[in-house]
Amino acid sequence: MAKIAVVPGDGIGTEVIEQGVRVLKEIAPDLEFEWFDLGADRYLRDGVTLPDDVFERWKAEFDCIYLGALGDPRVPSNVHAKDILLGSRFRLDLFINLRPIKLLDARRCPLKGKSCDDVDIVVFRENTEDLYTGMGGTFKQGTPDEVAQEVCIATRKGVERIVRAAFEYTASRGLSKVCMSDKSNAMRNTGGLWQRVFREVASEYPAIEASHLYVDVLAMELVRCPERFEVVVTSNLFGDIVTDLGAILQGGIGLAGSGNIHPGRLSLFEPVHGSAPDIAGQGIANPLAAILTAGMMLNHLGRPEDEKRIQAAVQACLLNDEVTRELGGTLSTVEVTDAFLSRLA
Ligand code: NAD
Ligand code: IPM
Ligand code: MN
Repeated sequence: MAKIAVVPGDGIGTEVIEQGVRVLKEIAPDLEFEWFDLGADRYLRDGVTLPDDVFERWKAEFDCIYLGALGDPRVPSNVHAKDILLGSRFRLDLFINLRPIKLLDARRCPLKGKSCDDVDIVVFRENTEDLYTGMGGTFKQGTPDEVAQEVCIATRKGVERIVRAAFEYTASRGLSKVCMSDKSNAMRNTGGLWQRVFREVASEYPAIEASHLYVDVLAMELVRCPERFEVVVTSNLFGDIVTDLGAILQGGIGLAGSGNIHPGRLSLFEPVHGSAPDIAGQGIANPLAAILTAGMMLNHLGRPEDEKRIQAAVQACLLNDEVTRELGGTLSTVEVTDAFLSRLA
């Protein structure tokens, strides 16, 4: 029996994760859940972000973490998100941020004339390095001579394992193309490493077409011609940005799920979207991203058929306009989940 640590977090994170757990209980009644009160409220109450004993229990006792979102205007430093979300990614060494971009209802793609087959991409976002480590610092802060520095890190080990994961995924799914994206024309040091490692790993997979695009061109091409992509591998920050772009290609940020994965180890699953303070507390957040994320988690737990069932029921909701307001519907968060559960049945 798998054990899930549930971290609803902030804002709409709490609203959509409640619905995601409802769905998980329906589909996989044998799962065991424990809820963790971590997020902005807790931080503002007692200064706690991610306590060591909680982190140690996660590692020892749990199979997956199911997380909503972290981010609250009352915590402008975002320190709790840094400790809980980025902290988990780094400390659990969750080097694969797996972000599918899959259009399930062609009417919801903002691009003209695209079918569901045209938008079916998986992004492998490197998740432990790049500009996210917090290395760097400030000097003479608050003076006219202030300096701020954010250090961009790429290691051979880090680049190689994400590139290899992308090729392995491509090979194992019977796909044929991997596109690596970087900014090696401007960032010669980290980009040079990405280039060399990509060529080396690609040479081990001669049947897979390996291509490269600078990330500015990738952004353009994802909009112009999404059908040319199957698997994209890129660094942490570029992956963050292109997967919000990808989310809108699949119909909206409320439809994008993700997994933060270290194969064979405790992994963390969360929707791509944030805590959406602009709509929090109104019961109108789209729960489908959290529900698709629950499907990815079930797949990770060895239940790919359950993920397929979830995708099919989400697709049925979309095709029948059983959706929240940002997608032109009238349903609430809970009502969309009700509709989803009827479709599932
Ligand atoms: P956001 O994703 O929270 O919101 C962007 C826009 O999309 C908003 O207009 C919002 O209303 C809409 N939106 C997002 N999810 C939606 C949903 N499920 N249903 C309907 N509409 C939805 O991005 P933001 O506003 O830049 O970030 C808000 C906070 O969330 C920030 O503190 C940010 O750092 C944090 N954040 C956290 C995570 C995470 O924990 N995984 C991810 C992204 C952003
Ligand atoms: C995401 C988010 C995070 C990121 C933020 C909240 C630090 O945008 O998961 O996409 O940049 O990774
Ligand atoms: Mn993001």
